[in-house]
Amino acid sequence: MSRLIVVSNRVSLPDEHGSSPPGGLAVALNAALRRKGGLWMGWSGKVQAEEQPAALMEKEVGGITYALTDLSQKDLEDYYYGFTNQVLWPIFHNRADLAEYSEARESAYYRVNGLFADQLEHVLRTDDVIWVHDYHLIPLAEKLQQRGHKNRIGFFLHTPWPPADILFTLPNYNTLLRGLSCYDLVGFHTENDRNNFAECLRRQELGDLHGDDCRAYGKEFRCGVFPISIDTAAFASLAGRGDDLQESFCRLAGFDVAIGVDRLDYSKGIDQRIVAFNRFLRSNKHRMRKTVLLQITPKSRDKIPAYQAMQKDVAELVGRVDGELGSVGWVPVHYINQSLGQPELASLYRRARVGLVTPFRDGMNLVAKEYVAAQDPRDPGVLVLSRFAGAASELGEAILVNPYDGEDMARAIETALDMRRDERIRRWTPMMERLRAHDVYRWCDDFLSSLDPPRGSMPSLEPA
Ligand code: F6P
Repeated sequence: MSRLIVVSNRVSLPDEHGSSPPGGLAVALNAALRRKGGLWMGWSGKVQAEEQPAALMEKEVGGITYALTDLSQKDLEDYYYGFTNQVLWPIFHNRADLAEYSEARESAYYRVNGLFADQLEHVLRTDDVIWVHDYHLIPLAEKLQQRGHKNRIGFFLHTPWPPADILFTLPNYNTLLRGLSCYDLVGFHTENDRNNFAECLRRQELGDLHGDDCRAYGKEFRCGVFPISIDTAAFASLAGRGDDLQESFCRLAGFDVAIGVDRLDYSKGIDQRIVAFNRFLRSNKHRMRKTVLLQITPKSRDKIPAYQAMQKDVAELVGRVDGELGSVGWVPVHYINQSLGQPELASLYRRARVGLVTPFRDGMNLVAKEYVAAQDPRDPGVLVLSRFAGAASELGEAILVNPYDGEDMARAIETALDMRRDERIRRWTPMMERLRAHDVYRWCDDFLSSLDPPRGSMPSLEPA
């Protein structure tokens, strides 16, 4: 059997207890590699001292080899904070207005992808299967092929793929499209993302998609829909352990809890959610002093002005709501800028009557799936989910909301808290069945078995 090489920008080593750090990609890839074994290569999270990057630092944990590379200060600024997170991220989340393109940033992006290819060469064997993850590394297949490597190689995008008119705001967007055509398989979370991608190719007459088969730039490759998932059974059992340590930590006893868990990111709709919660309380006076919103929001990408502005805005908003509505013994919004471990999160999800997952745009959003998996089957809570999260295409029994409409969200919180137990069970059961059938292992198997047929074995796209 071929060895699996996973490549992503950030590599997240499990902690000393073997649990993965939070973040959808980290949790999913650690879970997938735990079963399959293999090597995970990416950025160490550190800045290198020397001009030239040191050789890959390899570390073996729980049957997985982690191969880490440092980045220079300049690459950190221009590639990570610059092109990937101030150009691609906003564009892929329909916020072209926030994109700050520069040629220097773009060339750092392609340079770092070349550097990843150079580093990978030190460990690559001819029969390895490579699985590349996320928008940071779209050009990696092309860079490897330019160096003469012919390994089977797949790409999975963890964010949405934007509509054509939004992608076309990016100078040289066609170089990205060409980069994707160098993979054997390109995977998206949803049909909508794949349709957007196909539309980009068609509009520029660069290529076309027939079912899963794609032709662009004279290359044939496959494009599939692979909704990412979680380790459903493990998460459910974690939540069922009844660990109530966090109960005293958060002093939530006696309150109806709504929970939100998101990186501090403008795509997540955190401030609009807090505004909606404020609106809900004001129009449901009987819920005052009985309901709290627990918003767990680790800081993220905090060198970027849009993220710094958001930190300030959300903190001020929380202060205003708590100051205006709160009373001695009741803080309506508990706002925590820390990331919590999975056991604690699982218990908190189970404790919360409502899970609020209301991003403006999100590739999948695994918090939605974790919230469902953590519920007590005899008395489940209610998921309030944005229509614009990829998860909405699988979790249609949630209360689906428009995150731009505060009134809609306030009403949804009210409906969720008022919902009778039989109705909650009726909605939760099919969602949980789906998550049990489509867990992260199934996601991984589906992707890798679609990557399996060697290049050239695809039916020809030529007309008969
Ligand atoms: O899911 C999208 C993503 O950008 C992942 O690639 C990444 O690991 C995660 O969000 C966290 O972002 P960052 O690595 O910038 O902290």
